[in-house]
Amino acid sequence: MAVPPRIFYEPAELRAEIRQAQTSGKRVGLVPTMGALHQGHLSLVAESQKSCDLTVVTIFVNPTQFAPGEDFSKYPRTLDADLELLSEFDPVWVLVPPVDAMYPPRSTTEVKAPAIALPLEGAFRPIHFDGVATIVLKLFQVAPADAAFFGQKDYQQVRVIEDMVRDLLVPIEIVRCPIIREADGLAMSSRNRYLSPEEREIALNISRSLHETVGQIEKGATSAQVLRDRIDQSLRGAGISEIDYVSIACPRSLKSVETIEGDVVILVAAKVGNTRLIDNVLVTPPASC
Ligand code: PAF
Repeated sequence: MAVPPRIFYEPAELRAEIRQAQTSGKRVGLVPTMGALHQGHLSLVAESQKSCDLTVVTIFVNPTQFAPGEDFSKYPRTLDADLELLSEFDPVWVLVPPVDAMYPPRSTTEVKAPAIALPLEGAFRPIHFDGVATIVLKLFQVAPADAAFFGQKDYQQVRVIEDMVRDLLVPIEIVRCPIIREADGLAMSSRNRYLSPEEREIALNISRSLHETVGQIEKGATSAQVLRDRIDQSLRGAGISEIDYVSIACPRSLKSVETIEGDVVILVAAKVGNTRLIDNVLVTPPASC
């Protein structure tokens, strides 16, 4: 039965209620989002429900993680539909804070994201992870949950948050959750709704080429350069010419590897039409002995 979630607009009110729930022995899970919810977000709520008594979802399109010229103003805002999707879960509390509740007037303090933020996305979106780290730390303050759930679709974002929590001694468990894909392989993202049907077809080549590369590694391919070039060529062949990066890297440090000997993460960022998409996959090569 659908149960409308309890909605909070005031961070202080939410924090007090969470503290009270925790005092009465409840474990609280947090799912930070920017709204425009899809099955990927709902899988995080479902995961939280497995281990927590109460799940708090935050819906806030965070201005500081968008550079001028990025899609902040056109980012989809679909609050009614989001609340309807969340009503399938119970108990769920939702925080929808106004901007000045998260960024009080005259506030100038921000978090400098850890070093793991520098390559890949950080090279193309230099202010992005400082904005993410700042808002996520604020959300951890206003929703002092026991665990927070993040999707591996934003692989580097999860690594940034893991390192920030370690460095700043934030008492919260970070839970990584798998990427949720459409039946045809496209990684779910709020930005997929920008794609025209033709662009969506083209975008499928990103997950397809990642999938093919996993197959090649599982069959014993070890040269990262050869595999990166193949992905690049196959994306360009499919009409994706604006490729920000194709990286085969250590899953912890995100440093590029030359020879694939242990687990790697393959990450791609590319533009299809005007829509910038990211995707990744973790791979374990076959044992060498
Ligand atoms: O992944 C997102 O939706 C956002 O970057 C997050 C973590 C909610 C911070 O605004």
